[in-house]
Amino acid sequence: MTRNFEGSANVRRLAAVHAALGDRIGGAPAQHEATAFASANIALCKYWGKRDHDLNLPMTNSVSLSLGSLGTRTSIRLSDMDRYWLNGELLPCDSPEAHRLAEYLDLFRSEQAPAFEIRSDNTIPTAAGLASSASAYAALARALDRLFDWRLDLRTLSILARLGSGSAARSVATGFVEWHAGTREDGADSFAEQWPEVWPELRIATLFISKAPKAIGSREAMRRSVETSPLYSAWPTTAWRDLASLRAAVGSRDFPRMGAIAEANALAMHAVLIASRPAIIYWQPETLAVLRQVELLRAEGLSVYATLDAGPNVKLLFLADLETALRTAFPDLAVVAPFFGYTNFSSHPLNAQKIDFA
Ligand code: PMV
Repeated sequence: MTRNFEGSANVRRLAAVHAALGDRIGGAPAQHEATAFASANIALCKYWGKRDHDLNLPMTNSVSLSLGSLGTRTSIRLSDMDRYWLNGELLPCDSPEAHRLAEYLDLFRSEQAPAFEIRSDNTIPTAAGLASSASAYAALARALDRLFDWRLDLRTLSILARLGSGSAARSVATGFVEWHAGTREDGADSFAEQWPEVWPELRIATLFISKAPKAIGSREAMRRSVETSPLYSAWPTTAWRDLASLRAAVGSRDFPRMGAIAEANALAMHAVLIASRPAIIYWQPETLAVLRQVELLRAEGLSVYATLDAGPNVKLLFLADLETALRTAFPDLAVVAPFFGYTNFSSHPLNAQKIDFA
């Protein structure tokens, strides 16, 4: 596998890795194989729009909740040729996913580690608006950390994960995670940080409206909406304001306030998308039906709120005591408790189960 560092984007990405790893870069791997797990995350205040495309630097801060056991488990091992399996299937080497992975791994190859085999298993549907690239690149960054025994802190891991996918910056931690936009050109101050709040009663449920891969990926959608949506100019101010309100709502355990802000933030992001030219409409008719049902449930006194990423699927936010009632309204609900008892991934059971390469 040859590295391709031509072009300023790759040079800048490599410089960012150098800055993050210091003299650990280019070292020999500590072992032949390593495994790591990372949860997917759902943003309560979304990351939408980049200030730098090469380094995935965002326009504004964002904050998310991690999704417990919904995520990606990745095993990586040294090899003489790159090969990637996703959910047991070999990725064709000319597929966009394989190109993206190869480009990412280029940042970490050395004489002693020229190529890698990677097996990733998602516990969530890929590319259906459930942020699987976030958990994929966070798990990969963690697996590389173990393979090379770098022993990186959260901040550095999050910088490395960000270079694979923006929202992956937040998937290196659990619970409430804020990703700082930072102001530096090299992105050294754009990393994720865990909020101290623990809220065991909090629940997120996903409603799988469509498991089909989306027609337009978040990278392209983000670029198009920033460049063409007349509503984008209002987004950064909205996001900063929502973030401050969310911090206050979480700090005071004000669930209705938190839910209302998260829902409004997601709908504002979709308004930006819908106003893009050409329009980007991720919603299916069922998406709107669920949003309407959530509104009706609230009118009946149930404190439930909705959020959506770049896809048709809806996630519900509520507190544990509402679970039974919501299961009656939505029988297919997949419920997750974000504060699942693990304060970091090293103690997560999925971390220890390696995927068999044989
Ligand atoms: O990390 P990306 O490029 O897949 O972008 C993710 C963007 C959203 O999921 C829609 C919002 C977010 O903050 O996760």
